[in-house]
Amino acid sequence: MTGSGSGNGNGRAAACAPRSQVVGVGSYLPEKAVTNDDLAEIVDTSHEWIVKRTGIEKRHFAADGELTSDLGLKAAKRALSAAHLDAEAIDLIIVATTTPDNTFPATAARIQGRLGATRGSAFDVQAVCSGFIFALAMADNMIRLGQATTALVVGAETYSRILDFEDRSTCVLFGDGAGAVVLQACHDEKDRGLISTHLYSDGTRYDQLYVDGGPSSTGAAGHVRMNGQDVFRFAVTSMVQSVRDALDHNGLTVDDVDWLIPHQANSRIISKVGQSLTVPDEKVIVTVQDHANTSAATIPLAMTHGFERQLFKPGDLIALTAMGGGFTWGSALLRW
Ligand code: ACO
Repeated sequence: MTGSGSGNGNGRAAACAPRSQVVGVGSYLPEKAVTNDDLAEIVDTSHEWIVKRTGIEKRHFAADGELTSDLGLKAAKRALSAAHLDAEAIDLIIVATTTPDNTFPATAARIQGRLGATRGSAFDVQAVCSGFIFALAMADNMIRLGQATTALVVGAETYSRILDFEDRSTCVLFGDGAGAVVLQACHDEKDRGLISTHLYSDGTRYDQLYVDGGPSSTGAAGHVRMNGQDVFRFAVTSMVQSVRDALDHNGLTVDDVDWLIPHQANSRIISKVGQSLTVPDEKVIVTVQDHANTSAATIPLAMTHGFERQLFKPGDLIALTAMGGGFTWGSALLRW
């Protein structure tokens, strides 16, 4: 496997350096739920096929006129509320998205304006399904460097706008949704917060998972195209590798992991990642059945699921990992 990794390794850095702590999480799914049976009315598929191959039972689609920023804004407000913070506290907003409202400006800028946040910077990150991990790494590094103190990291997508509803091999896999976390600089001596992030990409695999459009190619948004079996294999090996790299980098082992939160693309990918790492099923968060693959939004959606059910206890070690188009992949380790 090619690709280069970069761990910030600040777990062993000077004690005075700030660490990013997760102080709030939130998510939002559009009201309109679309079942597998609903899709079977427009494409040649069945509930049984979709559940057996993917674990997906339903997805949510944004209403006409409901944009990625609308979803992201709702998730952001919920994360801020969970953190007991107002928008004025925010001095960095990063939105991970492949489906921005417009080609420019960034969807993050729109969310910043609508939140009424006036300090710091706001920008988007494009790493497809790995986007949330990439955005989390950017925010964490900026906090560690003192360039921000309170960051909103959002994953938000409206994939229903880039699906080809004549291609049954892709249109059943994705949904719309958003999730957000609030990160805050903390100087606590205790080992809490983000420990490290590892990011990778391999651009030689660009055409195995892509959208056949864009401003510079066709001028139209285009549709998702995918070599499903290659993506499946690469997703398993790359997510396993990135979690192993993160654990090795920090002198930890799989036995130290309390929760594994993999990108929610497909329940078979998730269980193969868990099995390869030898993480027991009960430590793996699985939410794909409820919202399908929402790309950059799946990890904060799954984090919110765990947070709302009070699964995470102080001191728990949580491993996040994702893989997406590019190819891109990566991991983040955090202490709750
Ligand atoms: N309903 C019914 N039949 C279908 C459907 C469908 N929705 N889609 C494909 N089929 C058919 C195919 O046409 C094929 O029929 P044939 O045997 O008559 O030719 C048959 O099912 C088997 O097709 P395969 O592509 O071999 O099926 P596979 O077992 O590989 O499952 C799937 C396909 C689910 C897409 C799988 O490859 C996969 O999960 N890949 C990962 C893709 C993914 O998750 N991508 C998301 C983006 S990347 C990421 O997030 C990590």
